[in-house]
Amino acid sequence: MKDQLLIEEALLAREQSYCPYSNFAVGAALLTGSGKIYHGCNIENASYSVANCAERTAIFKAVSEGEKEFIAIAVVGGQKDAPPVDYTYPCGVCRQVMSEFGNPEEFRILVAKSVSEYKTYVLKDLLPESFSLL
Ligand code: THU
Repeated sequence: MKDQLLIEEALLAREQSYCPYSNFAVGAALLTGSGKIYHGCNIENASYSVANCAERTAIFKAVSEGEKEFIAIAVVGGQKDAPPVDYTYPCGVCRQVMSEFGNPEEFRILVAKSVSEYKTYVLKDLLPESFSLL
């Protein structure tokens, strides 16, 4: 799958963001080993700390459908109702969740402003020396 396609899917996912408190809309698209794409958006709550990030929404959807092999995730974010102007990097909690399932050297993270302006990392770049019990 082309990086650009995964970014397009993340931009589509972002349209579903529920972010009335921060007005910061995030979308994610997760490519799994089976070739499927799982979409995620941030979902906020009046009890602020309950908010779920776009990345974890996508990952939890995938795991709950039986998928545990992750290839890549694209992430886009920015002010609601406007195109992204900066890169949105996964928060620490989402990086830890990624590390539960993604290979540190192979799982790719694409942070994008648009389909043509993006950066790619592998998990160990964003979460070195990660915590694991397995
Ligand atoms: N957020 C994400 O969904 N993903 C990130 O990588 C960073 C932050 C969300 C959480 C909250 O709804 C909003 O962005 C502002 O922090």
